Amino acid sequence: MSLLQFEDRMSKILFTEAVIEQRVKEMAAQITTDYAQNGLAKDPKARPLLLVGVLRGALVFMTDLARRFHVPVEYDLISVSSYGNGTAPGAVRLVKDLEKPIEGRDVLLIEDIIDTGYTIEYLRRSFAARKPASLHVCTLVDKVARREIPANIDYAGFALEEDEFIVGYGMDYAELYRNLPYIGVLKPEYIG
Ligand code: PRP
Repeated sequence: MSLLQFEDRMSKILFTEAVIEQRVKEMAAQITTDYAQNGLAKDPKARPLLLVGVLRGALVFMTDLARRFHVPVEYDLISVSSYGNGTAPGAVRLVKDLEKPIEGRDVLLIEDIIDTGYTIEYLRRSFAARKPASLHVCTLVDKVARREIPANIDYAGFALEEDEFIVGYGMDYAELYRNLPYIGVLKPEYIG
């Protein structure tokens, strides 16, 4: 089985490698400008911007974005999961917390996709309580079609109006497809 064969499992390629690369570049430029204008890059004593990736889907996007930044960054990672059936809708459980405190830090939370909005809003609340100097949210894909609660998103790469099952560039189905360089819509026969 090679990655090339996975292409046959896609009903369409939504975003090619080149399109993603270009968008990530634009987002990094925008975020760099915003942080520089807020003084971070001008203050030699300021701690570097802290990128927090939400495991596991955000890893690919986070590393590509970071390499396009023109400001120094540090990394941390967090892992959460949704509770299964039988609990309150949208309940989120912390699986792995940050390694270090974020009080006084400039934090950029990075997601691959925001869907219902529950995960990012849980993280926003949890992080805000830790008193960072600033807190922003960045996602590659904003799946607006599936939103159940309002989500505050500062930077979004692509807005998705259709409720399609997408994989690739960090996103999985049953842990597969994360290392595809593009984002595609998985054919229904490969789901379930
Ligand atoms: C995905 C994504 C977000 C979350 C968004 O993670 O990375 O963290 O779902 O969904 P929501 O807006 O409905 O809360 P997933 O649980 O698939 O885990 P993964 O990152 O390990 O793929």
